Amino acid sequence: MKGIAVSTTVNGDSVEYVCDGRETLLDVLRNRLGLIGAKEGCGTGDCGACSVMLDGQLVCSCLVLGAEAEGREIETVEGMADGDRLHPLQKRFLEHAALQCGVCTPGFLVAAKALLDSNSSPSESEIRYALAGNLCRCTGYDKIVRAVRAAAGDVRRQQKAQAKRKAAG
Ligand code: FES
Ligand code: FES
Repeated sequence: MKGIAVSTTVNGDSVEYVCDGRETLLDVLRNRLGLIGAKEGCGTGDCGACSVMLDGQLVCSCLVLGAEAEGREIETVEGMADGDRLHPLQKRFLEHAALQCGVCTPGFLVAAKALLDSNSSPSESEIRYALAGNLCRCTGYDKIVRAVRAAAGDVRRQQKAQAKRKAAG
C-alpha cells in the first residue's frame, strides 16, 4: 500500500513522515517518531492517556489519523520541559506524588497544561472538569488536583514576574 507523506510541526520542530492511511496519530508519534510519552490506554477516545495538542486543541491522538496532521502543529508531553527545566506541572506532580503507574500521567499533564494555558486561576471544580476526560486507575485524583492547583500558583507567579520584567523594559 502506498504511504501518505505528511509535513507537520511537533513541539516546534518541522517533521516529515510517511504513514499508512489508517494509522492513528498516536501510532505515528510512538512508532515512527519515537515520542512514546502519549500512551494507548483504550484506543477508543475514553481514557485520555493519548492526549496531545493539535493546533492548540486538546485531542485524543488515538482518534486522529496521522495523515490529518498535515500542515498542523502538534504538542506532546515531550515538549513541556524547557531543556532541563521541568514545567511547573511536572515538578508539582512529582512533589505531590500525583502518579503511581504513570500510564495516564502524560495525558493528565497535557490536559492540565491546556487548562493552565487558558486559565491560570482555575477553581477545584474547573480543574476536575478539565481533567474529566482523563482516567487514572491508581491515584484517586486528589493528589493530581492538588498538584495542578500548586502548579497554577507557580504559573501565576511566572506570569507576574514576566509582566514586571516587561514593565521595567
Ligand atoms: S488511548 Fe486514546 S483516549 Fe484512550
Ligand atoms: S497513575 Fe496509574 S493510571 Fe494513573
